[in-house]
Amino acid sequence: MKIELHTVEKYYNRGAHNQVHALRGIDLLIDASETVCIHGPSGSGKSTLLAILGGIIGPTCGSAVIGGKKMARLPDRFLTLYRRQHIGFIFQRFRLIPELSVLENVTLPLLPLGIRPADRKKRGRELLQRLEIDHRKDFPAAEISGGELQRAAVARALINDPSVIIADEPTAHLDTRLSEDFLTIMTDLKRLGKTIIIASHDPLVSASPVVDRCLYLRDGLLCAAS
Ligand SMILES: Nc1ncnc2c1ncn2[C@@H]1O[C@H](COP(=O)(O)OP(=O)(O)O)[C@@H](O)[C@H]1O
Ligand SMILES: [Mg+2]
Repeated sequence: MKIELHTVEKYYNRGAHNQVHALRGIDLLIDASETVCIHGPSGSGKSTLLAILGGIIGPTCGSAVIGGKKMARLPDRFLTLYRRQHIGFIFQRFRLIPELSVLENVTLPLLPLGIRPADRKKRGRELLQRLEIDHRKDFPAAEISGGELQRAAVARALINDPSVIIADEPTAHLDTRLSEDFLTIMTDLKRLGKTIIIASHDPLVSASPVVDRCLYLRDGLLCAAS
């Protein structure tokens, strides 16, 4: 799905003493078939940019057009629906619910979509099989390894068959082998025609053949790729 940002600015706590100008005029066009890596120092605005690209937060000024739809124009409930249908978000540190089983975590995004429990389970299991962690489906998320957590987080992001996959520092807490596994999964998704956006300062990610284009973010501004 094609994504466009037009002079996007983001302030946190605008007008208050703790105001942060996190994004300072971002123009960006991401083609539907592209895999883009966003790198840059901590605090440069990567997570903020991803949250806007994923329709999680809106820009303060400027506009985000995702799949031809202008996000700021959509009422909140449509924005939520849109996100649930089209975006798969892999959060930093994965954010699974520790007490729930892997299968419950993975199928959670389907709950608000009104899909029958049996169908939810079926889809969850298929995905866990594809990602090779089906043997952990009944384990609480608190009891699985880092690599398994990551696969479960990827499965949860894919459960709604999103056209856009967004990952925030997905390899930050993984060793080289698990990071390479993650990139292999992304390569498979790229073959399926997904749009992929990864924020990462891991050279393994930015130098990976799966990445078509690297963008460098600094102090809320996009600089030429480096
Ligand atoms: N919810 C928030 N409220 C206030 N400030 C925030 C919030 N989220 C991020 N920031 C600030 O915005 C800037 C960019 O943060 P972030 O997008 O998380 O950057 P990065 O992901 O590159 O580390 C930082 O100065 C950060 O402290
Ligand atoms: Mg971040």
